[in-house]
Amino acid sequence: MSYFENIKKLQLKENPIIMGIETSCDETAVAIIKDGREILSEEIISSATEHARFGGVVPEIASRTHTTAILTATERALKSANLMLDDIDAFAVTEGAGLLGALLVGVSFAKALAFSTGKPLIPVSHIRGHIAASYLADKTLEPPFITILASGGHTAIVAVDDYYNLSVLGSTIDDAVGEAFDKVARVLGLNYPGGPNVERLAKDGKNVVSLPKMLKNYDGGEYDFSYSGLKTAVINFVHNEESKGNEVNKADVACSFQCSAVDVLVNKAVKACKEYGYNTITVSGGVGANGYLRETLKNRAEKEKINLVIPEKKYCTDNGAMIGAEGYLQYKKRNFADLDLNAKAVVPLNFRRR
Ligand code: KG4
Ligand code: ZN
Repeated sequence: MSYFENIKKLQLKENPIIMGIETSCDETAVAIIKDGREILSEEIISSATEHARFGGVVPEIASRTHTTAILTATERALKSANLMLDDIDAFAVTEGAGLLGALLVGVSFAKALAFSTGKPLIPVSHIRGHIAASYLADKTLEPPFITILASGGHTAIVAVDDYYNLSVLGSTIDDAVGEAFDKVARVLGLNYPGGPNVERLAKDGKNVVSLPKMLKNYDGGEYDFSYSGLKTAVINFVHNEESKGNEVNKADVACSFQCSAVDVLVNKAVKACKEYGYNTITVSGGVGANGYLRETLKNRAEKEKINLVIPEKKYCTDNGAMIGAEGYLQYKKRNFADLDLNAKAVVPLNFRRR
């Protein structure tokens, strides 16, 4: 009988142990999750420093590093959970979105593990993974809630109505917020990865540079975002000042940009919560690691009496645990793949638009 014929007949475990594998960008991440909420172990091998001198992620370097790191990360994850490969009930892997070559390393590796153990292979959407990180942060968290999805590729206010039904209340019409952080970092002469470096510099600055209000004359959805104009305004400000021979206070620019980029996320999430009658907000994606966002959101949520769930910083940026957490939800639905699973550079959010 073929691998997949066997998988289709396999009985689901009550408390499955799932390995989550993430290789969509520059982190090779493997984690082992019990029952969808308990992290038994996690390993991350990052190639970020190798990309730094190029000013951004070099896909070829990312793929090659995954190839050498993935076995080590997996062996370490098994060892620190004190488990053998056969103890794993299913292998969840990011199928996309991300860098194709990088994704292929994780997908191929997960296929090999699934085939050799005769266990299910679970394809996971990277974005759903980011959202599922909140279930690890608060073991009692259940939908419905609103999540601020803020990563390098996405920016949206998403309503999570149950574990599987997600809908977009608004999203960016151009750049993602993380992308704007990275581009602003570049014009300020900061190294990759841009977001954390902008945050560091902003700590020494004040919010004094006047930047345009987002989507001023826009009559699209009120929960939409646009980061392209904000980014361009920052770039123009720096270039204009430099061409006049004025010294630019880069810390002030970083702080002003960070306030503009983040305040709008917080405001729209709180507004959406009230308008649609939700009482919990969570944060998903790399920009969720931003200290100013975390602090601002905490203060607002307290004031508005909204429950707040923010994953630890390491679970906001790419990690294997979030893939294991979402993998668990897909395991329950038997969303298993056959061995012809392919990596996808783009995965449509596939969420309803309200
Ligand atoms: O979720 P993520 O790790 O990867 C994607 O799925 O895109 O997000 C990466 C993005 C990058 O644009 C990075 O600059 C941003 O998250 N980021 C931050 C911070 N840490 C990561 N942005 C602002 N402040 C941070 N501390
Ligand atoms: Zn990510």
